[in-house]
Amino acid sequence: MTIRYNLLSPELKTNPYPAYAEMRRNAPVCQVDPGGMWAVTRLDDVVHVLKNPQLFSSRGFGVATNPPWLGGNPFSESMITLDPPEHGRLRGLISRAFGPSAMARVEPRVRAYAEQVVAELPMEQSVDILPTYALRIPANVIGDLLGLSPSLHAHLKRWADLITGGVTTVRPDDHERKQMARDAVTDLRRYFGEFLEERRRAPADDLASELLQAELDGQALKQDELIAFMALLLVGGIETVVHLLGASLLVLLERPELLERLRADRSLIPAFIEEVLRYEPPVHAAPRTTTQEVELGGVKLPKGAPLLVMLGSATRDEAHFPDPDRFDIERGGSKNIPFGHGVHFCLGAPLARLEGRLALEALFDRVGRLSRGSDAMTWHRTLVVRGVGSLPIVLHPA
Ligand code: HEM
Repeated sequence: MTIRYNLLSPELKTNPYPAYAEMRRNAPVCQVDPGGMWAVTRLDDVVHVLKNPQLFSSRGFGVATNPPWLGGNPFSESMITLDPPEHGRLRGLISRAFGPSAMARVEPRVRAYAEQVVAELPMEQSVDILPTYALRIPANVIGDLLGLSPSLHAHLKRWADLITGGVTTVRPDDHERKQMARDAVTDLRRYFGEFLEERRRAPADDLASELLQAELDGQALKQDELIAFMALLLVGGIETVVHLLGASLLVLLERPELLERLRADRSLIPAFIEEVLRYEPPVHAAPRTTTQEVELGGVKLPKGAPLLVMLGSATRDEAHFPDPDRFDIERGGSKNIPFGHGVHFCLGAPLARLEGRLALEALFDRVGRLSRGSDAMTWHRTLVVRGVGSLPIVLHPA
């Protein structure tokens, strides 16, 4: 009999990979805690689920992040919670903003942010690299992309956390945290609403102004749809990149020879990033719900069964990645799926890769060696994301 694992237990927070391997071996589709959702752990099954939205709906994402006590959540109304055909209509409008020409336009600004953040890092003393580097770069980039005031950039991740993890992990009797989540939704709607009004009156060179001009079937996007998209970018575009950068530095801290190699040959950075995304993927699970009775991995699932599509396990699936627990930038990753698959494939993947590359290049220009800082590191995990929570490091100049 397989153990019923709790994905949020301290052991699985620190290192979930032995448990994932056991599930892949003995029970590739099985119930897990909290909540008894069905974890899908083999890469082939994961791809099958993500390729068939008519059988495995994304609507559950919206339900989980909008419990009755919250009274509405813009993230829960965003396209990540929609199925075809509504999903495709919205995505078609928005995807241009993340295409190659948009990336070429944002690159100099991302580079400038990365260089500024790295220039402000203290050297030769213990510093938690998460708030000082890994968080500041993506929060600035998303704030800047949307056109939000820089004074707000520091609050963006807090809002994003409160409207997702802050909602799904709150205890039923924790009225204080529930109120914090409600306040975050109210603040976010009010702030984004006022901001969109301003841009309507005076458009600027930013994504919000572009979205205001975009049209769906000849009609402008509604205010709620615009706010939902902005909330999705906060949630999807900040914490994920924080974890990509946190994991990158952890890997380099443990492998000084690799740091030297990358510093000497910057062309290896993209392959390094792909392997970090496989080895420590920021998104461990994508939620889905069955739309009818369906068989998956030899298990019959009833209609309405909540699933967790375990990307964190699929990227270590030995059937596709030989010796999967070994970090190897040479392996090449055509099967890698840290950004998901199918209709919801991450819209921000080119931006995430760009941020990762420029953040590391800026760091390598100034830093020659890393060593452990004074405190222990911690891991952070929700049902959906996992990554380094704090990472004290000493940076030594190049
Ligand atoms: C390393 C960083 C990132 C990772 C690992 C990641 C991962 C993912 C995954 C797995 C999905 C699919 C979820 C599903 O199928 O339910 C997704 C969707 C999405 N991501 Fe990312 N993401 C990252 C960065 C970003 C960034 C920087 C942005 C935007 C600025 C972004 C915006 C989005 C959006 C808008 C969606 C929804 C797409 C849709 O529903 O069609 N992501 N991401």
